[in-house]
Amino acid sequence: MTSPALDTFVAQAIARSRALTDPADCVLALAPLMLDLIGKAGSFLEPQHYKSDPDHYARNLVYSAPDNSLSLYTLVWLPGQWTPVHDHGSWGVVGVLEGVLEERSYVRLSHDRGADSGIELVRGGVILLGSGAVTSFVPNPDHIHITGVPAERPSAVSLHLYGRTMDDFHIYDVAAGTRKRVEVAHNES
Ligand SMILES: [Fe+2]
Repeated sequence: MTSPALDTFVAQAIARSRALTDPADCVLALAPLMLDLIGKAGSFLEPQHYKSDPDHYARNLVYSAPDNSLSLYTLVWLPGQWTPVHDHGSWGVVGVLEGVLEERSYVRLSHDRGADSGIELVRGGVILLGSGAVTSFVPNPDHIHITGVPAERPSAVSLHLYGRTMDDFHIYDVAAGTRKRVEVAHNES
């Protein structure tokens, strides 16, 4: 860790997330911390945290707890870069540093039996998150969405805190009604 602002954020995030076992309570307690942190991003983010990738959105690690209980990344989105349809299997709190991050949600109609097939999803609403916005999600059971930046909009940079080391997630094939667990790469700081 490189700055008092980040040190304080991490210490408070660890303390609050340990004390609150319900993910919904956890994001309630952590969202204000993220709002404060994005205002101080200039004090701890370094050039490598703004690294982009022409092939896909870039994930740059900022902090990972030694016990894997939480992790913080910058995500850098060039115009036209999107995630697949995915969930996270954990709570998460996201703050937007630059640009407008777009989130398109999916609603699960089928009962969640923990199975990887027979999943019926329909498209939900869209949310446009401008610089300074904070959003969050909890697995109840799954928060399923795609996130990115349309081709006609400028790049975006966002900070993402998750309740685990985020090295894999489910991606969904909406038409087939299936999902699979895939590893996701990141750049080390
Ligand atoms: Fe996501």
